[in-house]
Amino acid sequence: MQARNTTTGYGAVSKALHWAVAALILGMIPLGLVAVEWPYDTSDALATKALLFSIHKTLGVAVFFLALVRIGWMLTQPRPAPLHPERRLETALAEGVHWLLYVSLVAVPLSGWVQHAAAAGFAPIWWPLGQTLPLVPQTPDVAAAAGAVHATFTKLLMAALALHVAGALKHHLVDRDGTLARMLPGRPAHASTAPLPARRHALAPALGALLVYGLVGGAVVTLARSGGESGARPGVALPAATAAATPSAWIVETGELTFTVRQMGSPITGGFGRFDADIAFEETRDAAGHHGSVTVAIPIESMTLGSVTQQARGPEFFDAEAHPAARFAADIVAAEGGGYRAEGTLALAGAEVPVTLPFTLDIVDGVATASGTVTVDRRDFGMGESYPDEATVGFAVEIAVSLTARRGGAGEGGGA
Ligand code: HEM
Ligand code: HEM
Repeated sequence: MQARNTTTGYGAVSKALHWAVAALILGMIPLGLVAVEWPYDTSDALATKALLFSIHKTLGVAVFFLALVRIGWMLTQPRPAPLHPERRLETALAEGVHWLLYVSLVAVPLSGWVQHAAAAGFAPIWWPLGQTLPLVPQTPDVAAAAGAVHATFTKLLMAALALHVAGALKHHLVDRDGTLARMLPGRPAHASTAPLPARRHALAPALGALLVYGLVGGAVVTLARSGGESGARPGVALPAATAAATPSAWIVETGELTFTVRQMGSPITGGFGRFDADIAFEETRDAAGHHGSVTVAIPIESMTLGSVTQQARGPEFFDAEAHPAARFAADIVAAEGGGYRAEGTLALAGAEVPVTLPFTLDIVDGVATASGTVTVDRRDFGMGESYPDEATVGFAVEIAVSLTARRGGAGEGGGA
């Protein structure tokens, strides 16, 4: 059997690529569905879930590269002519579905990969390619949007595949023609005596498939970004309503609040899409030695943690139902050796724990840029009691906050 396609049949390379990719895809779909549904209520179950996801992601990345090879090959090949060109609607439908499948082969694994890279950590990819991707920021909102796109694109792939397989079966069982046979391995190219004129891939169905994916992807990203009951822009702190009233108040303009914990030995980063910060700050100390105070209210429902968000919100960890908000209230004091410290109490998941957050602060033209990190121990908050060692979930949780704030009032510039 020859390697290249002819105008009447598929060559060995096209057939091998078609069936290798088909087998992988047909395995990947149930694997993804099972991994998503797999319970994580015990550490054994969570370990199995992570294993399923690692297999899913590792095979998925292989599909991505194999798909590029497949599409590259297809573009260099003549296309076997349809066996019933006079059935124009059926032929156009088949071709449109082929293009939906080609686009799926790239868009589905890529969206999964972006989701993984944005929430790097949980269930690593085993290829030595690293766990991140260039141009993909590691933020919870990007992870959530890419996850939603991946889940939706897999549904499009399943729908296209159902039509494709139904079409192949119809040709085989109803029309009893050679359509399926000419894609099966080991058979000679379709025995047509008269060579058909060479056909190229038409542009319109390809563009149509890209358009379908573009529109659906755009809609899902828009929905994911506008998600969250308050409609707040994810990742940006809301200005505190009361802040402007006090003379030394600062209004938060942008902010990011993330946390990192080791899961199955790899760091996984989650974050809060929203938080309200009430900040009062002067560069000169008051009589008590304070530069000001800060109160942060954090809705737990805005928290995401990769593929284990629901588990993290559950009673074992953040216990969002019983404790829907966390709160950090602290005094700001100067730190020895420069910078500042917010010394106070973190109320989270029903526990109140003293926490000191060291942070750096730069004020330029009335805009303050602050960032700091603090490490807490999940056990102090009674979190993850059924994970008594660090094999599945580490004890240390590093909280990182960065924000920019503008001096309240008329927005006057200059220092304090
Ligand atoms: C049991 C599953 C499958 C069967 C029975 C099947 C059958 C076929 C047949 C018979 C053809 C040739 C159509 C023709 O000659 O006009 C074909 C082509 C094609 N199949 Fe499948 N297929 C299966 C799974 C898949 C999967 C999983 C994918 C990709 C996600 C896929 C993508 C394609 C594409 C893109 C073509 C067009 C090739 C071209 O001409 O460029 N197929 N398939
Ligand atoms: C051809 C390749 C792939 C197929 C067919 C596929 C299919 C699926 C399916 C059917 C689901 C379940 C969706 C749902 O109903 O929630 C899923 C979930 C998921 N897949 Fe894939 N996948 C592929 C590639 C990848 C790759 C390459 C990655 C990452 C590197 C990945 C990461 C994920 C993740 C993280 C989820 C869970 C999404 C969530 O948060 O709900 N997938 N996949």
